This record gives sequence, C-alpha cells and structure tokens, in this order.
Amino acid sequence: MKPKITVIGSINVDLITKVNQWPKPGETMTADAFLQMHGGKGGNQAVASARLGADAVMLGCVGEDSFGQEAVDHLKNENVRVDHVGRIPGAHTGLAFITLAENDNQIIVAPGANYACTPDWIVNHEEVIAESDVILMQMEIPLPTVAKAAEIARKHGVKVILNPAPFQLIDKTLLALVDVLTPNEHEYAQLKPSLSDFTGDLIVTRGDKGVAFIKNDQEIVKPGYQVEVVDTTGAGDTFNGALAAKWAETGSLEAAIDFAIVASALSVTKSGAQGGMPTLKDIHAFTETRRTRE
Ligand code: RIB
Repeated sequence: MKPKITVIGSINVDLITKVNQWPKPGETMTADAFLQMHGGKGGNQAVASARLGADAVMLGCVGEDSFGQEAVDHLKNENVRVDHVGRIPGAHTGLAFITLAENDNQIIVAPGANYACTPDWIVNHEEVIAESDVILMQMEIPLPTVAKAAEIARKHGVKVILNPAPFQLIDKTLLALVDVLTPNEHEYAQLKPSLSDFTGDLIVTRGDKGVAFIKNDQEIVKPGYQVEVVDTTGAGDTFNGALAAKWAETGSLEAAIDFAIVASALSVTKSGAQGGMPTLKDIHAFTETRRTRE
C-alpha cells in the first residue's frame, strides 16, 4: 500500500520573470522571459510526494477565481487528492511574484486564500489527519493552524514534518509536537537560539552542499550532487515531499534523506518549482548513471 502523506499548506500561482541581474531599488527593468507556473510550498510538496509514489492528500485553500480552478485541476492531474481543498469566496488565490537572476531567486507572496486556512478549518479535517502516516507542513498558512494540525496529529499518533519556511519564530508548544524539522541553512541560523529544548530530528538543507542530519547532538553530513542548475525554486519543497514519501514508506529517516537529496538535485535542472520534480523512474536513472560513473 502507498504511504499516505497529508500536506497542509499553501497553494499559489507563480508569476516568474527572468532578468540578467537584480534590479536596483527604484529601477524599472524589462524581463528576458515570463512564465506562469503552479506553486505554493504546500502544493509543491504534495506534487513531489505524489510523483514519488505517495498517496498525497492536499489540505489548503484557493480563491473562487480562475487561478484557483486551474490550481486544483493541476493538483488533480498530478494525482494529488483535492477533495478537501477549500474554495474561498471573495479571496484571490495565493500569488507568488518570483524573480530569477544570477542563479538565484527572490519571492514575494500575496497569500490571499491561503490565510483562510484557519484553526477552525483544520479542526474540521481531523479525520483526514488521523488517517495519514505523516503530515507535512510549511509556514505559508497561519501559524496557529499549523500548531492545531500538529496537535491533532499527535493525538492520533501521526508523525509531523515541519518545513519552517518562510522563516517565523516557532513557539515551544508547537516545537514539542514536531517530529522532524527541516530548515534551510538561513532559517536554521535564525531558529537555532530557540531550538535548545527541541527533541525531534533536525535536518538542515544546504543546497548543493547537501544536508546536515542532527540527532542527539550528533551531526551527520550528507553531501549533495553537482548538477547543471537552471532554477533553484522549489528545491526545498522537492526535498521535503521526497523525504516524507520515503520516510513513511521505509521508516528510515537516513534512507529518506539520501533519497530526498537526489530528488532535490534533479529538481533544479529544469524551470519552475515543479518543472524538475522527478518521478521514481528519474531517480533510479540518475542513481544508475552516478553508480556506473564511480
Ligand atoms: O518554495 C517555492 C515556492 O514558494 C514557490 O512555488 C512560491 O509559490 C512560494 O510559495
């Protein structure tokens, strides 16, 4: 049976421009290219885990606009279950304004309907959480909702992965309900002072430098892969979706980390947050090629 991952988080439409160099404050610049793609850290992580063999359920909210319909249709086409995605009258679907330049990205999110994912809304989905193997969350929906979902998951013995992106301080009550925390190195630097009592597993992602797996004060460094980078947007989301899928399938966090490192390396080789997200077949092909080269 497929592992059941419930992703609780944002659904956005990404509006992407590409420029050669970052504009200065006050400057108007003409883009070299424009792309409209599906995104949102929640939506991305759901698609990543579905492509990698999980039974992925999305809990999130979109507006009653055409972007919302497109986003839901897209998730469905990616085999993500959308029966519990809310349609919020009068709100716009989440939008992410992304600029790509100098091998990096800048993202400004207009959350819209994502902020209608309230604690009361999540309480109404207790059954979905209770039936999951793992819930996977980020911080693009209100933090009290994330905390309430973690509380429900703990009540039902369901594992919780929290990807603390974008950065906000996390209080002790929520931290105590998290089994695996997955900050990137910037988020980790800001969170570190508040993590002294954290007893879960900590996985710090460091881009092409790989990952630090910190458990009981011991740090295991897992190297990354050198690949041709086209777009780093969504690499962290691919990592998290892959981690959740493999952890739920095997029960081994170390095996899941190794798998997720390959998945996120592949994700940066194509445009868009979801453009390069691999399937199981892509992961096997990549692993085989690397093995025969060694
Ligand atoms: O992590 C990348 C994602 O962040 C984008 O898809 C964008 O929608 C923002 O949520």
